[in-house]
Amino acid sequence: MPDAKVALVTGAGRGIGREIAMSLAREGYACGLIARTKSQLDETADLIRKAGGKALVTPTDVSRREQVVAAVEAVERDLGPISVLINNAGAYLKKPLTEITEEDFDFQLKVNTYGPFFCTQAVVARMVERGAGTIIFVLGSETRGGPAQYSAYTASKVAQRAIAESVAYEFMHRGIHAAALDVDGAVDSPRVREAMPDTDPSHFVSPERICAEIVHLINQPKSSWTFSVDLRSFVQWRPRVAAKKKS
Ligand SMILES: NC(=O)c1ccc[n+]([C@@H]2O[C@H](COP(=O)([O-])OP(=O)(O)OC[C@H]3O[C@@H](n4cnc5c(N)ncnc54)[C@H](OP(=O)(O)O)[C@@H]3O)[C@@H](O)[C@H]2O)c1
Repeated sequence: MPDAKVALVTGAGRGIGREIAMSLAREGYACGLIARTKSQLDETADLIRKAGGKALVTPTDVSRREQVVAAVEAVERDLGPISVLINNAGAYLKKPLTEITEEDFDFQLKVNTYGPFFCTQAVVARMVERGAGTIIFVLGSETRGGPAQYSAYTASKVAQRAIAESVAYEFMHRGIHAAALDVDGAVDSPRVREAMPDTDPSHFVSPERICAEIVHLINQPKSSWTFSVDLRSFVQWRPRVAAKKKS
């Protein structure tokens, strides 16, 4: 267990990031909240404070290194040393490969690859000095093999996984727990239900279970650290290759 209970959650303005921040606040973590849209961060902070928790809103573009450094400084000054970083902020692009512009491709890399790299770089040295900390990378099914039309997103997430693996081998033995949490499949939310009205809700990944997994990872003892977690709803475990017909 880390000494200080301060978490930095990226992409905390809505969706999965908001759920993660609220669940860490329930676990007693003061939460630094990162995203670009201040009004959404304020809503998350209000929800945390109303439930008795502590939060600091730090509007930040994770793809801008100087903004990330400033946010980390503000959180450590106001809340204390960051003991948990959740790299959750993500940009999403579904587009045919031939239509993806250089700007599109750059944007996916900037948010999904540079973002977690900058955030990790900004917190990890001080975690090492204290000899404790947890860094979790929220990945997607795409890291197991990208479906059509997700080439830019997939490239950026596969690169993020590579960063997670490097962080694991560079810092785990120095007391920092890194974990790659691969969320494989659509996560339940009003937005996803609206976009997929014909899908049985039990086929979606539960955001509560994502949060529970994150809390579990944070609380793992040094003697038995998990690096890779694949979180899927039961339907995602169906065979991906059809069985051969008997001749
Ligand atoms: N939803 C799913 O079904 C699903 C499935 C598997 C994996 N995931 C992964 O889970 C993570 C969260 O997904 P979600 O569905 O909750 O996404 P979401 O609802 O679109 O929320 C994304 C969050 O990230 C923030 N963000 C985006 N770009 C940013 C930037 N440049 N700098 C700082 N913050 C930024 C957004 O705020 P601003 O726009 O205000 O910056 C928002 O708070 C992503 O990494 C995604 O790849 C999602």
